[in-house]
Amino acid sequence: MYKINCIGILTSGGDAPGMNAAIRSVTRTAIFNGVKVKAIYRGYKGLITGEIKEFHTEDVSNIIQRGGTILKTARSQDFSTAEGRRVAYETMQRENIDALIVMGGDGTFTGARVFGQEYNIPIVGVPCTIDNDLWGTDFTIGYDTAMNTIVEAVDKIRDTANSHERLFFVEVMGRDAGFLALNSALASGAEAAIIPERLTAEDQLEELIKNGFRKSKNSSIVIVAENLTNGGVQGLAERIHQEYPQYDVRVIILGHLQRGGSPKAYDRILASRMGVAAVDALLDGQRSIMVGVVNDKIIHVPFSKAIKDDKPVDSDKLGILQILSI
Ligand code: F6P
Repeated sequence: MYKINCIGILTSGGDAPGMNAAIRSVTRTAIFNGVKVKAIYRGYKGLITGEIKEFHTEDVSNIIQRGGTILKTARSQDFSTAEGRRVAYETMQRENIDALIVMGGDGTFTGARVFGQEYNIPIVGVPCTIDNDLWGTDFTIGYDTAMNTIVEAVDKIRDTANSHERLFFVEVMGRDAGFLALNSALASGAEAAIIPERLTAEDQLEELIKNGFRKSKNSSIVIVAENLTNGGVQGLAERIHQEYPQYDVRVIILGHLQRGGSPKAYDRILASRMGVAAVDALLDGQRSIMVGVVNDKIIHVPFSKAIKDDKPVDSDKLGILQILSI
């Protein structure tokens, strides 16, 4: 069997709280198994430019609690070209890196899949994205922490919304997925969530109004997923403002605040488990798979499925939101 003496690790795409805990776990598990670890900086870009350093156990001390990624991250355009990947492969040969563990989301795994096939390299992925939009895993690293960040922010917004009797539209991240919006709406007691998986944003707003939106309430919170068409959250707020001038409407975009901060316990545990599983998978001869967690058990998911298949949001939760907001 292909012998792995050295594993290269990198983080790529949007950062997610818990990436450092995963870096720590992968590094220590590899060393525990007598395998060298080389840290690649700035994602695939570092594989092209050769920004690489061997990691020892102390290099990952005191990072489990830190947000962001000590390896830095980037979205590399060069790696999406055949020439970029050729240079990346040469770097791997020069550095004697036999296999890779890549941490990120669908963009990261899309690159990994192509690279692994082109050069016959064993690559295992660790799902790290606050969006939780990867098929084949119930949770991605960073999602729980980001959701807690949103809930803390909405609790604060609610205080001022109440005092001024205002209607707040709160925009949250989740490029093409409503997991953050829907679940943070439930957890923060919001009136509604507007998510990309359902109708158009306009239609969802229409439905909301038709269902007696606000009723006797004098303040409300609506969580809106980013990237909606028709002017996004600002467009929705504008429409309400015009049609219901009696409502005092405000918009807040939480933005990159959601990606920062110390990972919550759940993300640290998930990252620690997935890091061990990723190294075990590589040493067992697995390739082109992502480690996932389903019903609290670690599983292996082919990159092709994790990237391509859409993970459905639980639309029952929209009904729950509606019941609880009467
Ligand atoms: O995929 C993670 C994510 O945080 C998305 O939710 C968001 O749309 C995107 O990254 C933002 O990317 P950037 O940091 O490049 O602005």
